[in-house]
Amino acid sequence: MLDIKEKTKEIVSEFDLSDESITTMINHYILQTKQGLKETSVRGMPMIPTFVTSVPNGTEKGTFLAVDLGGTNFRVCSVKLNGDSSYELIQEKAPIPHDLMVGKSYEFFNYLALQVEKFLKFHHSDKFCLEPSSNPRTPEVFKMGFTFSFPVDQTALNRGKLIRWTKGFDIKDAVGKDIVGLLQSHLNMRGLPVHVAALVNDTVGTLMCRSYTKPSGGRTLIGCIFGTGTNGAYSQKIKTIPKFDAAAHPEITDKIMVINTEWGSFDNDLISIPNTRFDKQLNENTPNKGFHMFEKRISGMFLGELLRLVLLELQQDGYIFSDEDKIANAETQRNNLTTPWSIDTSVCSKIDADESSQLHDTENIIKTFFGYDTNFEQRHAIQLIVKAIGKRSAYLSAVPIAGVIIHTKALEKFETIDIGADGSVVEFYPGFESMVREALRKTEIGDDEERITIGIAKDGSGVGAALCALVA
Ligand code: GLC
Repeated sequence: MLDIKEKTKEIVSEFDLSDESITTMINHYILQTKQGLKETSVRGMPMIPTFVTSVPNGTEKGTFLAVDLGGTNFRVCSVKLNGDSSYELIQEKAPIPHDLMVGKSYEFFNYLALQVEKFLKFHHSDKFCLEPSSNPRTPEVFKMGFTFSFPVDQTALNRGKLIRWTKGFDIKDAVGKDIVGLLQSHLNMRGLPVHVAALVNDTVGTLMCRSYTKPSGGRTLIGCIFGTGTNGAYSQKIKTIPKFDAAAHPEITDKIMVINTEWGSFDNDLISIPNTRFDKQLNENTPNKGFHMFEKRISGMFLGELLRLVLLELQQDGYIFSDEDKIANAETQRNNLTTPWSIDTSVCSKIDADESSQLHDTENIIKTFFGYDTNFEQRHAIQLIVKAIGKRSAYLSAVPIAGVIIHTKALEKFETIDIGADGSVVEFYPGFESMVREALRKTEIGDDEERITIGIAKDGSGVGAALCALVA
């Protein structure tokens, strides 16, 4: 039997990506980009035309509503765009109960409409009347942008059928339905003066928001999310999107269109991306088995689960968490080690960042989340594994970024390139951006990595959705 050091080394090396494999993935990414722009296929990269045909420049004005559905919370906000790259935002968040995430669409959209009603009653009761009979004033109709961060086959700016759920959602009777229609009908049932004017992916919102707010400088090429899930949007000329029926939309043929790549579904057939035994086990436990395979190696929903699976193997092989190490205190007796999805990525972030002597912080985290005592050697092994999972996530994240930059030839066209990013992983995972940059330097982009700026676009789904509602 290997000792714990050798065993750790072996696992760490399974998460390692060679420079060559990064190049291979980028080439495959560009190939799948081109295929996805040509025709939609079930297993290919969706490359969805979004019907957003311009990006803002900071002078846009007005007040809009925005709702955001994409992860564990539903957010409702109103956004006042001041026309000088600034904005004011009021927002409320409601957690989405798990039984609604996997239940029926009627209950689900009813819950969303209820949150909008509560928000309007609380924050905007002065602007319109909710009960027209008691007040003859015509209610002001709010234009709303709906940030819906799942793959949708969009047929207009405010129409789109859900292709499939991701990130643990599984409301079966909503698949194939027009998502805007579902929300609008529940808003109407409640008599709310709201018109859903735009259906927006969070990456598109991020691209719009960053374009509106960014300090002067390079043009924003990509809006991307590294959060619960991962995805990116960028624009290209409509004439260069073969699968888009430009003849059916003559008014926009000469414009650009923002494309929602759904890069989480890059290489679903695992031709170029890594596939360790832990990745295989994780996939088996997801409702969207075989899809969004790239996302399952990168984003916040999955990193903690990958760690759990590795730790479980280490325990089964007798390296950590023996019966004697079990803490007898009932409060720390959790079944997290054997319960799928019990470990949040923030656990990985904390262990990765631990510089305390003897890794005492890690010791406490492990006690709290797994209920076991560890010695220094074991904690050191666990930290190396966490770092390997985190680094692989960041290196993989560089693949679609490089892919879009190379595909659009942006470095030949612009002096600097700006990227708007959002999500808990890029924001909070220690050293994430530096690791992405390190990987970008290993690609054909090389030293030109210095010509790329990356900025966090915090309110992408609120402000971006408002900007889309404005152009609607
Ligand atoms: C998932 C969704 C995608 C979204 C991303 C980030 O990949 O399919 O639409 O943009 O998560 O939230």
